[in-house]
Amino acid sequence: MEEGLRVNTNLTSGQTDLEARNSTLKEIIATGQVTSPNGQVLSLHSHVSAIEANALYELVKKRQPRTVLEVGMAFGVSSLAILTALDELGAGSLTSVDPNQIEGEWKGTGLANVRRAGFASRHTLIEQSNFLALPRLFESGMKIDLAYIDGWHTFEYALLDFFFIDKMLAEHGVVGFNDAGWPSVHKVIKFLLRHRKYVEIDVGLPTVYRARHFHTAIARRILNAPTQDRYFEKLAQWEPPFNYFANF
Ligand SMILES: C[S@@+](CC[C@H](N)C(=O)[O-])C[C@H]1O[C@@H](n2cnc3c(N)ncnc32)[C@H](O)[C@@H]1O
Repeated sequence: MEEGLRVNTNLTSGQTDLEARNSTLKEIIATGQVTSPNGQVLSLHSHVSAIEANALYELVKKRQPRTVLEVGMAFGVSSLAILTALDELGAGSLTSVDPNQIEGEWKGTGLANVRRAGFASRHTLIEQSNFLALPRLFESGMKIDLAYIDGWHTFEYALLDFFFIDKMLAEHGVVGFNDAGWPSVHKVIKFLLRHRKYVEIDVGLPTVYRARHFHTAIARRILNAPTQDRYFEKLAQWEPPFNYFANF
């Protein structure tokens, strides 16, 4: 485990450090509900788990990134985890890429949660698909210190997320993956390990192979594809020669 990182869940209250520090997030997780800007109460879904949000929060506090990028904002749970840490650090900003935040499914609720928590000044939304937003951010010269990938989970979309993030990520920067046990996301992680110079870092999350179906859990164990969020530190800015290929 990275020195200074721990999964801190208060077992008496069942509340993480992050929830204790962010009342907006605490309420969202406790009620399982969010309120859209036009007052509609919606059921919370598609978010990172409380324990994973807490690990993300602790990691941001530990690494002190100046520039953070996330792909996939939804109701803003991961955004609030990142922004709570940046706010405590008193520096840094988050850019979220999500094509459906205001106009689509999320009805601006993730943004409303960021505003309600008082973090709007540290946050920028790019309401575009990854395949439009990320090349533009790269072209604009953006450099990032930490990235969190939780967008569209097919292999090619997650690979595209990683491909552009890798180009913008500083050496010793960190990239994290939600739903790391999905075959599509796991395949991207295997690409990262074979075709780039990264090393996995332990953020204190327990290794979980659990699945709804027994056979999936066994397969995850055999393939070493645990489901908890996984994080990787970039060791060097490196791409292989043009004729390189290694199975992944
Ligand atoms: C699992 S949700 C993200 C949850 C969020 N990280 C949280 O913790 O609350 C996946 C998100 O990816 C977004 N998404 C879908 N297609 C996308 C694309 N092509 N580029 C970027 N984001 C996309 C969806 O709109 C959705 O908000």
